[in-house]
Amino acid sequence: MNNDFSQLAMANFSASFKGQKLTSMHNTNPQPFSQNELEQTIGCSFASLLNDVDLGFAPDEGNLALRQTLSEFHYDGIKAEELMTFAGAQEALFCVYNALLQANDKVLVVAPVYEPLLQIPKNMGCDVNIIELNGCDNWSLDFTQVEDHFKAGTRLFVINYPHNPTGATLSHKELSDLVELCRQYDVWLLSDEVFRGLEHAKQDQLPTVADSYEKGISVGVISKGYAIPGIRVGWMACQNDELCNAVNNVKGYLSVCNSQLDERVASEVLKFPENLTKRNLSLILPNKERITQLTQLLEHEIDIVIPRVGCCVFAQLRDADISTKALAREIAAQTGFLIFPSNLFCTTQKGFRIGFGQKQFSEFVKACV
Ligand SMILES: Cc1ncc(COP(=O)(O)O)c(C=O)c1O
Repeated sequence: MNNDFSQLAMANFSASFKGQKLTSMHNTNPQPFSQNELEQTIGCSFASLLNDVDLGFAPDEGNLALRQTLSEFHYDGIKAEELMTFAGAQEALFCVYNALLQANDKVLVVAPVYEPLLQIPKNMGCDVNIIELNGCDNWSLDFTQVEDHFKAGTRLFVINYPHNPTGATLSHKELSDLVELCRQYDVWLLSDEVFRGLEHAKQDQLPTVADSYEKGISVGVISKGYAIPGIRVGWMACQNDELCNAVNNVKGYLSVCNSQLDERVASEVLKFPENLTKRNLSLILPNKERITQLTQLLEHEIDIVIPRVGCCVFAQLRDADISTKALAREIAAQTGFLIFPSNLFCTTQKGFRIGFGQKQFSEFVKACV
């Protein structure tokens, strides 16, 4: 077997529960929309959208209508030509890494981390360095450490705000300082923005990195921040033509192009980011009030930094001697809810990712305390 693709711990952990009737409480997206709910939210039916769809291959870079929707409703200055669509954010990330990096390139990643953000460049033989966020410090990013790594020759810095799994974000000033720092050291900035749209207050929404920086790459998706994982559409935005062409070339080895049906529906749905966000916040905000009740998992005490964005938290276990994997199994067995242990996020900090965008969150809290 080809060992260049290391096993993904998250997929393996989930697979180990196959066949068990558990309710996921680790999700990073709000409860997905039903078709009915989505039709009401956007004010038109799928049937009307799918009337007379072209069933030939979609353009490799994505349908113009979809890219125009993204440009108009999700970016400030990014043009349709600077956007490309993919089969999810995952494919976009894979293509960007492979287009930009070679073995031994220095890549800087923030942990705890969504595993593929770190594993893809590792699998490519890059020199991957990590900056650990710490719950005791409100998960804030240490700019001194960032600059030290930049001085040592970082080619690409990878960020993900709103952050999975901690729910952290940057202030507007921190983001603009970071862009300046990248400019000063000529570092590419890959910003995984898949949870954009889940800011609890509008003023906490950051500008996109693609809009802010000529070597900035933004990745977005309809599955996470908009809670529609059944439509498989992600995208990338970047002002740099050469990179866009190289990314398109890598995509030619993968999906080549998206489903026309998915792109047609997405091109309409994504015209309503505010309606989608309103519905998502109607699930998130009441559940956010309940987080303070979650002081323990079974008899084990936890600490949680309440986030201003997204719908997941990293609950830190006070007792560092406990196996988080074993405790996740015990919680699953006793409560019927599955949460993800911290070893799935490439960190040594002990805790769990818990999602609070699901309708059953209050039942989870009751079952745990
Ligand atoms: C931070 C982050 N980026 C990218 C993705 C990939 O999203 P998708 O599977 O919709 O492509 C995920 C999925 O969980 C994620 O959490």
